[in-house]
Formats: sequence, structure tokens, C-alpha cells
Amino acid sequence: MRIGLATTGGDAPGMNAAVRAVVRTAVNKNIEILGFERGYAGILANDYDILDARKVGGIMHLGGTFLKTSRAELMKSDEGITKASEILKKNELDGLIVIGGDGSFKAASRIHKESQIPVIGIPATIDNDLMGTDTTIGFDTAINTALDAVDKIRDTATSHERVFIVEVMGRNRGFLALAVGLASGAEVILIPEIGCNPETVCTKLVESHGKGKKSGIIIIAEGLADCLSRAGLNLKDIIEEKLNFEVRITRLGHMQRGGKPTAFSRMLACKMGAASIEFLLSGRKRDMTAIQGREVVPVDLDYICTTEKLIDKQLYEQALALSI
Ligand code: F6P
Repeated sequence: MRIGLATTGGDAPGMNAAVRAVVRTAVNKNIEILGFERGYAGILANDYDILDARKVGGIMHLGGTFLKTSRAELMKSDEGITKASEILKKNELDGLIVIGGDGSFKAASRIHKESQIPVIGIPATIDNDLMGTDTTIGFDTAINTALDAVDKIRDTATSHERVFIVEVMGRNRGFLALAVGLASGAEVILIPEIGCNPETVCTKLVESHGKGKKSGIIIIAEGLADCLSRAGLNLKDIIEEKLNFEVRITRLGHMQRGGKPTAFSRMLACKMGAASIEFLLSGRKRDMTAIQGREVVPVDLDYICTTEKLIDKQLYEQALALSI
């Protein structure tokens, strides 16, 4: 058997551990792995290397992806899907494994429909925005990376008695912001799924102040921050003008995507990487390796790409109840 492998879309810590797990599980079963470089861009250029156990040695603890990645705009078009399908067929592949997020899976599903080549998606994104899986490779690492930064910001916020607005990634979803907000004890958590009423934010800060909290942390998801800025709402100015608090803004940005994967992200990557090969061998055609509880189970890629994962509103309420 010959199977293609690529890391696609935004990188996520733990992708290397997943590549290693795919390759070594395949090697144990005498399956050849063609590692395409730079995601779909590498597939479109037929740029691959045959991966063996040694080539994926010494990478498990590294962030990023040694296969490299890219956002290939062409894969949103029929032309891209047809071209990629033809190249994969020419390589006589019995399967394609794509490590990435929803955009990558949409393209993988379309490739399957056009080429009949079985495709398996391994969910790897710091956004954790994929339906069907409790969590994704890289999410835990990104939470810890952001948390480390917020803990440091808390030190200076306390010393200066300031309010900090800390923007975390997550595209247009609030899973990362909610997790970071809960785990850092943020006074306010602002996510797209709930929205933002500046009045409510000010009331919460005044209440906190009244209870003796002279500083505060507001975690805001980038998707909501973008919405506010498009609507011409400047939260910093509103808080400073209304409450006379000093406010600073920190945008954590791409540092959240880098760094050593945590033990949890690595273990998840090992389990999902191994499962991807098992799924192909058991005749699965178009599935994602999803973690549900302790089990890795197959979930149809089309269902994942067309169904929205819901935010845990109870967890959100809990986070706020604990930040009094
Ligand atoms: O999907 C992962 C992610 O880091 C999002 O949280 C963020 O919105 C986006 O990628 C940034 O993309 P890029 O690296 O292309 O700027």
C-alpha cells in the first residue's frame, strides 16, 4: 500500500508527533508513506519524499511541522481539487491522510469524491473548532502557552492596578478564549458566541473593584475583537472614559501556535496518527480521527465540515461565577 500524508492549513503544536505516529504505524505494517511538503501546495506540485522511521525521528517534541504547511487558495476551486486528484491518482495512492483543520478537510472530502481515494483527516488546530471531536491536536498546548503569558500579564496588571485586554486566537470561534479565560481566572471573557455589551463589561469591572480587585484581565477572542473594531467600538477607550481605569491591550498572536507540544497534545497525536492508518486498513473512506472520551473513533468528514461545534455555555457561566 502507498499512502500520501500532508500537514495543511495553520500549523499546530503536535503535528510532528502525529506525522511520526502515522509513519511509524505504517512502517510496522509495510505501508509506504509519501510525505508531501507544504500541505496542498506540495500535492499540487507533486513534491514529496518517501518517509521512513528514521526520517521522523527526533521531531516529536518540536512545535510547527517539519513537513511544512501552507494555505492553498487553489484548493477552494474545482480546478485545484481536480488537479490534486489527478496527481494523487498518478502516484497510485491507496489513501491520503491530511493533518489539519476544517478548510483542509473540506478539500480532502472533495478529493475523495472526485478520485475515490480514501481520505482520513487528523484534527490539528489550536482553535478546537471541529465538530465531532472533544479536542484537537495543539489546543492544549495553545491554552498553556496563552496561559503562561496571561499569568505574566497578571503580575504587571496587579502591580500597576490596571485592566488588561488580552486578545487570543481562535479565528471566529471562542473555544481557546473560553479555556484561557477559565484557567486564568479572567474577570471578563468575551467570545463571538456570546457577544459583547460594553455596559455589562463596565458593570462587571466596577463590581470587581468594589470587592477589592484593583486590577483585571479581560480575555477577548480575536473574532470578537475584529467585530468590535469593524463596528467602531473601542473597548479600551470606553472603559477608560467611563470608569477612569488605566487599560492596556496585549495581542498574543502567532506565538500561540508555536512552542513545544504539551504531553497531552503529543499523546493525542500518537493515538490519532496510529488510528488514521487503522481506519484506512479497515476500509474507512472519508473520516476524521475524533477523540470522544478516551476513544478515537471515526466521524464522517462531510458531517464535520457542515455542522457547527457548539460552545459550552455552562462552562462559560461557571468561569464568570468563579471570577468574582
Ligand atoms: O486556525 C488557526 C489560526 O491560528 C487562527 O486562530 C487564526 O485566526 C488563523 O489561524 C491565523 O491564520 P494565519 O496564520 O494564516 O494568519
